[in-house]
Amino acid sequence: MVSDLQDQPLTDFHYLRHPYLKPMQKKKEIVLSGIRPTGFVHLGNYFGAIMNWAKMQDEYDCYFCIVDWHSLTTHRNSHGLKENVLRLLSELIGSGLDPEKCVLYIQSDLPEIAELYLYLNMVSYKGELEKTTTFKDKVRQQPDNVNAGLLTYPVLQAADILIHRAVKVPVGKDQEQHIEMTRNFADRFNHYFGDVFPAPQAFNYGEELVKIMSLDGSGKMSKSENQMNAIYLADDDELIRKKIMKAKTDQGPEEPHSAKPDFIQGLFNLMQVVSPSDVLKKFEEDYNDCRIRYGDMKKQLAEDMVKFVGPIRSRSHAIRHDHKYMNEVIEYGAVKARASAKATLSLVREAIGIRYR
Ligand code: TYM
Repeated sequence: MVSDLQDQPLTDFHYLRHPYLKPMQKKKEIVLSGIRPTGFVHLGNYFGAIMNWAKMQDEYDCYFCIVDWHSLTTHRNSHGLKENVLRLLSELIGSGLDPEKCVLYIQSDLPEIAELYLYLNMVSYKGELEKTTTFKDKVRQQPDNVNAGLLTYPVLQAADILIHRAVKVPVGKDQEQHIEMTRNFADRFNHYFGDVFPAPQAFNYGEELVKIMSLDGSGKMSKSENQMNAIYLADDDELIRKKIMKAKTDQGPEEPHSAKPDFIQGLFNLMQVVSPSDVLKKFEEDYNDCRIRYGDMKKQLAEDMVKFVGPIRSRSHAIRHDHKYMNEVIEYGAVKARASAKATLSLVREAIGIRYR
């Protein structure tokens, strides 16, 4: 168990000699991001976050975390939790995360996060938490379960980020407010207790943060919406084709160079990320000349999507039931993440003055 390993020096840890898992090189800036194990990973998660995680692991000192405690704020019934966590882990690795290059771990393996969450709760205020967009959304969605964990969700997220003193947080557009709140909590902590935390920034390689729309254009693609409106990394080829062919379209533009309705723009955005650029260009021109045939566009998009998702799905399946490998990845990630978390927590305790012996 991880708890038995916590005091072992990293160099003595036998997984470091495991053929899959070699010691990490120390890199430059520290990166952290997280994902909830609340359902199937979809294209919004992939293009909003995971794709960048896979790229960043070669350039930065990266920590990526499955935030199982966060999922309890909305999913009190934890029956499917283990299955969700393990499938998510296999999908992250299938999407290109390499446990040798980044620290890939599960939030609940780091009790240090819970302790930092407690301290950060002292520098976060009820008023600002109640005004958070995600909190207001959840209050509408689950009026019978407005628990304190839901209210302090951004504080726990700040603890995830600050426990490694991360400066870059690769996320989709919907997380922008949470990262801004993290900066505020860090700033206040530093002000009251002394400089411990750098100011983290949401990150997408110098571009605007991404928002992938659902297939009916009604909002962002999400884990909890109508399953036909999201494409999941676990979907098989036929299901992907079916979902894309059912995506909402209209009669097509009547005026050349018309603005695109949201649901059409969403299809073009998907084409932009999975199709070759000349294919996208052709359909853009067809749209601008009012001769677009959405049936053809969707067939092309479906085939390009199948080519894109298929290999990720196969890689994820291949490791999902390799229990030995999965357990090793989890334990190895926990040990590395805890070493970093412990170092930060001793700075935090020192700054607050929690040292009585
Ligand atoms: P979660 O689990 O909802 O989503 C994981 C990542 O996917 C991004 N994302 C999207 N990006 C673009 N378009 C979409 N339709 C879309 N849907 C989801 C999210 O922006 C996110 O980057 N609160 C976080 C989890 C979290 C976290 C953290 C993130 C906990 N601690 C620390 C960063 C740092 C969440 O609910 O993500």
